Amino acid sequence: MRVHVADHPLVAHKLTVLRQASTPSPVFRQLTEELVTLLAYEATRGISVEEVDIVTPVAPTTGTHLTTPRPMVVPILRAGLGMLEGMTRLLPTAEVGFLGLVRNEETLEAVTYANRLPDDLSGRQCYLLDPMLATGGTLVAAIDYLFERGARNVTCITLLCAPEGLDTVEKAVGDRADVTIVTASIDERLNERGYIVPGLGDAGDRLYGVV
Ligand code: URA
Repeated sequence: MRVHVADHPLVAHKLTVLRQASTPSPVFRQLTEELVTLLAYEATRGISVEEVDIVTPVAPTTGTHLTTPRPMVVPILRAGLGMLEGMTRLLPTAEVGFLGLVRNEETLEAVTYANRLPDDLSGRQCYLLDPMLATGGTLVAAIDYLFERGARNVTCITLLCAPEGLDTVEKAVGDRADVTIVTASIDERLNERGYIVPGLGDAGDRLYGVV
């Protein structure tokens, strides 16, 4: 597994405003989209491309195209939805699938409660969107889900990670080179309620209001 922390002053600035408790929902949503677009630029560095012959108004030349099958973007419901617009702005030709995972409070395992994805993801590059990598349980289940259906490599875009969650994902995926985490920050720790510290609070609530 590879972990990439986007080290850029604009990422740091936007993340700082996002973290502040006083930042209202509309600003939070807008900043999330902007941050994801910046993270997506890093996350798509390894996207599959091929050479293509084209003709400019001046001369024939060789250029670059994204390959088919198209990349698959998968927001994890609910908070991952707030990241979708920022991702598709950079990757408008991607296909979008949805995955809803919830923790079974008895077994503590993540269970899929909603899925809108092709059964066959053979050869597809997938981009998972989930703003907070906290315990890592949801992300491990989502990665397993995609690989079981034949995905070729999976890049997870998160705003924040807890070191504990990164460890969990690392243990689950081992040294597979085809899993990458791209994030704006690795924070200090998880608190006893499972929140990332210093974090930004509950990302879903801050995006959409408390339900
Ligand atoms: N999920 C969140 O939304 N925030 C956290 O701090 C941890 C998990």
